[in-house]
Amino acid sequence: MPSVYIKTFGCQMNDYDSGKMRAQLAADGFVAAAEPEDADLVIINTCSIREKPEQKLHSFLGTVLPQKKVRPVTVAIAGCVAQMAGAELYKKYPKVDLVFGPDAVHRIREMVEETKVRRVLDVDFFGEDTYPFPTDVDPASDGVAGFVTIQKGCDNKCTFCIVPATRGVEISRPADEVVDEVRRLVERGVTEITLIGQNVNSYGLKVPGHPTFAELLRRVHAVPGLEILRYTTSHPRDMGDDVIACYRDLPKLADHLHLPVQSGSDRVLRRMKRFYTRDTYLDVVARLRAARPSLVLTTDVIVGFPGETDEDFADTMALLEAARFQGSFSFIFSPRPGTPALRLMDDAVPDAVSKQRLMAFQARQREIQIEEHRKLVGSQVRVLVDGPSAHDEGVVCGRTSGFKTVNFPAGASTVRGAWVDVRIGTAWANTLRGELLDPDPARSGMGVS
Ligand code: SAM
Ligand code: SF4
Ligand code: F3S
Repeated sequence: MPSVYIKTFGCQMNDYDSGKMRAQLAADGFVAAAEPEDADLVIINTCSIREKPEQKLHSFLGTVLPQKKVRPVTVAIAGCVAQMAGAELYKKYPKVDLVFGPDAVHRIREMVEETKVRRVLDVDFFGEDTYPFPTDVDPASDGVAGFVTIQKGCDNKCTFCIVPATRGVEISRPADEVVDEVRRLVERGVTEITLIGQNVNSYGLKVPGHPTFAELLRRVHAVPGLEILRYTTSHPRDMGDDVIACYRDLPKLADHLHLPVQSGSDRVLRRMKRFYTRDTYLDVVARLRAARPSLVLTTDVIVGFPGETDEDFADTMALLEAARFQGSFSFIFSPRPGTPALRLMDDAVPDAVSKQRLMAFQARQREIQIEEHRKLVGSQVRVLVDGPSAHDEGVVCGRTSGFKTVNFPAGASTVRGAWVDVRIGTAWANTLRGELLDPDPARSGMGVS
């Protein structure tokens, strides 16, 4: 049987696309290879969001291409770097058999077949009316948590971001298709679903009569057997009252929201073209917390955006205090080809300053996480079991609805996918530790943060 190894860089959209490719290739008899050295087909699903992930493509190719000298192996470059620089990569790496962008994922089987007679390059975008969302379920999906795409592309033009160029315009997937995929996953035993897209809360807005994101949340929430509903990523500008009301009305909607803010300075937000201010962001957060007091909020932050002054950065630190994020992904601004922010590079922030700001932000973020986690000591939380801890024998690891990682000693009967009650004993920045209260993991139910 032929085997495939897919190396995935980047975000949940790429993870999802890799899953769809695995599913389609399985129909041609492909099985998963444990290592690239064992595979007949190696696909590198790339990310170009910052310079670092983009470089990983080149180092990975450096390990895979030499294998062509000793055995037949088909090598493909997929994803966002392929979309941005497909023709260039095709020319630069004549030994690569196939280069294709995210819109060609559904054609993977025919493209692989075609490589038997010629090299293939496909970086075309689909029209809005013809985009086919692949529907096959990933054979490697772990049976407990599943991702379902509700949208592709992004119509925003945040000046730092390459995604609109790599993923094309925003297209909302029909709600019936989304609900059907959720149902099929739940029938396979999945209890936690994450709806994914680059700006999920603008779902359906540009098509008259299309269900909105809030309506979609309510329909998915009603799928019997589903226990936790998550989504990512949402844009603060599009967080409407109808979605906020879902936090009051829908108990299966997770206690965790990732709401990227990028900066706490209105001046920087304007230059990023984010179309909200620090105050409107905090107002959205206040309304969300009124609807769901237990909400755990996390965010993304960019430091060192061109022209960011010490005062602008102080505003970001002040926003961290005001919003009390319980986690964040923070990045140093990375100039990306073709993005509007390149025109601001005369105002570039020196590397050393950006690094200092990143360290200061991350240090304070860590303290806040510890402070917030300590508030949970002594409380009882509901945990969805992931499985045995990788580091600690006899210890099991799981997650709360608020997306907190909880470790606790437990026996072999505490299996992956079970819901259990745990009393929290110790708190660190990234994990909590506790003791198992409910010895009957067969019982299922809602989690709390
Ligand atoms: N669509 C989401 C949103 O609107 O926030 C996030 C998209 S992006 C895949 C994930 C994160 O990468 C962004 O929130 C941003 O913080 C970061 N990012 C994007 N472009 C960047 C750049 N040029 N330099 C540094 N970080 C960047
Ligand atoms: Fe990029 Fe902005 Fe779209 Fe997010 S909303 S994907 S940051 S352009
Ligand atoms: Fe990277 Fe493309 Fe996602 S650039 S972050 S893989 S949409």
